[in-house]
Amino acid sequence: MRVAMIGTGYVGLVSGACFADFGHEVTCIDKDAAKIEALKAGRMPIYEPGLEDLVETNVSQGRLSFTTDAASGIRDADIVFIAVGTPTRRGDGHADLTYVYAAAEEIAGLIRDYTIIVTKSTVPVGTGDEVEAIIKKTNPDADFDVASNPEFLREGAAIGDFKRPDRIIVGAHTERAVAALRELYRPLYLNETPMVVTDRRTAELIKYAANAFLAVKIGFINEISDLCDAVGANVQQVAHGIGLDKRIGSKFLHAGPGYGGSCFPKDTLALSKTAHQANSPVTIVDTVVEANRRRKETMVDRIVNAAGGSVAGKQIAVLGLTFKPNTDDMREAPSLIIVPALQQMGASIRAFDPEGMEEAQKLLTAVTYCDNAWACMEGAVMAVILTEWDQFRALDLERMAATLKDRVLVDLRNIYSPQEADDSGLSYHSIGRPSPGKAAD
Ligand code: UGA
Repeated sequence: MRVAMIGTGYVGLVSGACFADFGHEVTCIDKDAAKIEALKAGRMPIYEPGLEDLVETNVSQGRLSFTTDAASGIRDADIVFIAVGTPTRRGDGHADLTYVYAAAEEIAGLIRDYTIIVTKSTVPVGTGDEVEAIIKKTNPDADFDVASNPEFLREGAAIGDFKRPDRIIVGAHTERAVAALRELYRPLYLNETPMVVTDRRTAELIKYAANAFLAVKIGFINEISDLCDAVGANVQQVAHGIGLDKRIGSKFLHAGPGYGGSCFPKDTLALSKTAHQANSPVTIVDTVVEANRRRKETMVDRIVNAAGGSVAGKQIAVLGLTFKPNTDDMREAPSLIIVPALQQMGASIRAFDPEGMEEAQKLLTAVTYCDNAWACMEGAVMAVILTEWDQFRALDLERMAATLKDRVLVDLRNIYSPQEADDSGLSYHSIGRPSPGKAAD
């Protein structure tokens, strides 16, 4: 099938490359000429494991191309995906749909034969209706359907998630559109990936409900971890103990410094706004949004307490800056709250992140950026693990104890065992797990 993908951000680029890998003919379109030039030269705008190879293979085999010329990609496409950004609108928290509607208008003027326009961007309920109205108004003769096909890709694992999804959601109102999307996803369909076909509004809401549910799960375990700290229980064991119940499930029960990224913070806020507007608030999501905001701040208190009550004049080594591992994405990362707060309290920050430093340098100033974890800890009194990159999981703890002047390690991702850290001579502080020296009575 011939596919046009408007928007070469995270979703558009990964989806476009994966559709091409399924054997479809894909044109990725973006207005950003510099980005398209870079992609044509094989340079990726984001760090995503496996993406560069996937793009290169499909470009060289002639199934994937990049252009700024929307007309050339859209005119003969069977399916046009809208995968442009839907950032949080400044001031009110709603999703900003300017780019989605601009894309709809552009598509309307270009399509010739029957075309299916599919929103892949995360869009509030009712956006598909508006896209349909725009196309009808701009081009009353157009023969088209509008469908919703949300994505569930995780940054850092996006290609695997695309090729082995738990399900595919299709929101469409005609058999013709559903049949075309089944054909598009045939390689997965053959692997027995369930395809859930709903109306458009339901599909749009499924995306928000999925992200909000996962955010609630994280918010829940984070509060349970605080309770564990207060009563001397172990949150990892609580998570394991409840997660084995299949009704609960073990995933997304890792306590940490609060969720970040380009999706959960934005989508929970947008869902909350939609729900209030519809006079049907989802109060549990409102609560989690607020708790998650506070959580990043309370992490600062933890670090200060671990430092003995003050960080003024101290050098702190921060390991990991991105919102999660295997990405260079800094959006809503806990580091953006924690690092400036520590600096304001008089600490000087040394930092290392395997992929995020270029981006971090634009956002976090007056930080000494280091070449690796050991260089980062050199001269520091304590270290704080903010992101659980694999390369931080097996650091020599005895060497760490010898390097850090005050021997303090704050592990906000629970990647080390308290016993092992204690045995290595570190004063170890993690989330919701009693330290061996300080078990509750
Ligand atoms: C998330 C969803 O997982 C994807 O299914 C969805 O497609 C995507 O948003 C989106 O809407 O585009 P992503 O933001 O890439 O994906 O990352 P996650 O792996 O979900 O992590 C989000 C945040 O939650 C991170 O800050 C992570 O550290 C945190 N997290 C995750 C926890 O604190 N604990 C956990 O157990 C899991």
